[in-house]
Amino acid sequence: MARHIDILEHPQTAIDVASGTLAEGLPIGLPTETVYGLAADATNPAAITRIYETKGRPRFNPLICHMSDLAMAERYAVFDPISRKLAEAFWPGPLTLVLPLRPDSGIHPLATAGLDTVGIRVPQGFAGELIRAFDRPLAAPSANTSGKISATSADHVDDDLGERITLILDAGASVVGVESTIVKVENGEMRLLRPGGLAASEIERVAGKPLKRKKKASAAIEAPGMMASHYAPGAAVRLDATDVSANEALIRFGTPDIPGSENALAVLDLSASGDLSEAAANLFDFMKRADATGAATIAFSHIPDEGLGEAINDRLRRAAAPRE
Ligand code: TXA
Ligand code: MG
Repeated sequence: MARHIDILEHPQTAIDVASGTLAEGLPIGLPTETVYGLAADATNPAAITRIYETKGRPRFNPLICHMSDLAMAERYAVFDPISRKLAEAFWPGPLTLVLPLRPDSGIHPLATAGLDTVGIRVPQGFAGELIRAFDRPLAAPSANTSGKISATSADHVDDDLGERITLILDAGASVVGVESTIVKVENGEMRLLRPGGLAASEIERVAGKPLKRKKKASAAIEAPGMMASHYAPGAAVRLDATDVSANEALIRFGTPDIPGSENALAVLDLSASGDLSEAAANLFDFMKRADATGAATIAFSHIPDEGLGEAINDRLRRAAAPRE
């Protein structure tokens, strides 16, 4: 069983114990505003190897390196003017920037999967304070078994990885609830590599230019083999449901009159007021709760693709993708 430390009750103990565990090269469960991370010293190859092993994650998938602030980030990566503007506007916060790595950065190639770029994020709150105290970047993917639903509470981390790690810091529920938005600036153009907890429209407003999307995810669904299953609960996932049957759990978005609701195994409303930020914060917890009913399928009602809806729909499409 992993030790839990409540960061609100015992902030200094949390920093001291976490710094000691990280210095030993062991990963810890770390709360951030997006999701809980499985964090380890990004300069220590043994520590990074333990992240991949603990998650069962393929090593060709690079990790995000977390910094305490922009000044620290500039020691490890080279900022173009647009990336710097975005960092100044949105850090600390749910934005990851992919940037050229400084050759002498000290970040181990295992963390970047050998790329000459690095994904950097400055998280809000306690995680930033811990990094400032530890004074090294922390590589941290979401704290869940690879392919499963991301963890948004210390209990989620414990249920999934508690047997495999020694320390989980507890800051309650993650307020954003979906992973960071990932942006890469190339030749003065911004590319959206992953929709996430910062709405694309916010980024476009600050940069004064459009974010280029990858090919639409709907196109990927037409070629299902191309789309890795991810964020997968035990149950199957059905999207844009307009009804629900008795062996299903329903997760709806402010749509109260879905036929069959009275017989469903569970009915959970992501946001009664139709607020997409609230929906994002509830998403992964509700998926776990719906899954725990033993439902054969989790049915989701339609969620608009605007604001944080873009990130929610991205995660739901992956959850619904064919499994291996
Ligand atoms: O909110 C978050 O981003 C959470 C919390 C813990 O900070 N972290 C997270 O990390 O979601 P992870 O490892 O699950 O997502 C990392 C993704 C990779 O799948 C990859 O797509 C992208 O970030 N990435 C990282 N480094 C990259 C690079 N150098 N070039 C392109 N993509 C990169
Ligand atoms: Mg993840």
